[in-house]
Amino acid sequence: MIMRPLIAGNWKMHGDMSWIEKPAQFDTLMPATERGHLDILICPPALFIAPMAASCFETNILLGAQNCHRAESGAHTGEVSAGMVKSAGADFVIVGHSEIRAGGETDEDVATKAMAAAKQGLMPIICVGESLDTRKDGQAESVVSAQIKASVPEGLTDYVLAYEPIWAIGTGMTATADDIKAMHAVIREIVGPNVRILYGGSVKPANAKEILGTENVNGALIGGASLEMESLAAIARAA
Ligand code: 13P
Repeated sequence: MIMRPLIAGNWKMHGDMSWIEKPAQFDTLMPATERGHLDILICPPALFIAPMAASCFETNILLGAQNCHRAESGAHTGEVSAGMVKSAGADFVIVGHSEIRAGGETDEDVATKAMAAAKQGLMPIICVGESLDTRKDGQAESVVSAQIKASVPEGLTDYVLAYEPIWAIGTGMTATADDIKAMHAVIREIVGPNVRILYGGSVKPANAKEILGTENVNGALIGGASLEMESLAAIARAA
């Protein structure tokens, strides 16, 4: 099945209020007429979602959050709920990023967040990925399979799955095309034909074409190279 590629930028904790201009910059570099075949998504820090909503809407760029809380509301200082993300103007939310899992978030927590997001009409991007030790032990596929089974909530069909090997994030190391192909085939078996599977981990303009051309890769989740609109547009052009 041909799936519409999703090119997703995760800004992590980068930027300031001047960055709310970036969707307009992107649109100048790559107008909507050149990207009718794919989806562009930006996930800025939560504070910038509301001020970016209008320009993302005008430029046909999708907007997402990097995380949300599993509860609808309550005494959770510093947290943001899925409902708040939605009402600020986003349609997507990343859940289970390895940088948040590293703080103790479990697969069950991720599943609860994904469900909370879906209930608010947000599209969850559920992240999984193995550590370098796990890969060296030859356990990458079994660990990622188990993560998916426990992190995708029962009954949820509308979501995006992002495979981000932890050792490839922010390191400049990427999995080989063969490794990506093998892992994405395993993931496809579990998630079925209708879920977009993104690859993430040091995706750059230089490697985008090969990665995005790999079987069962339906897009990319991009950290560092999504901070500059020139490189994000170069990656999008490779899709
Ligand atoms: P980098 O592209 O900076 O390696 O980050 C990947 C990532 O974690 C996206 O969520």
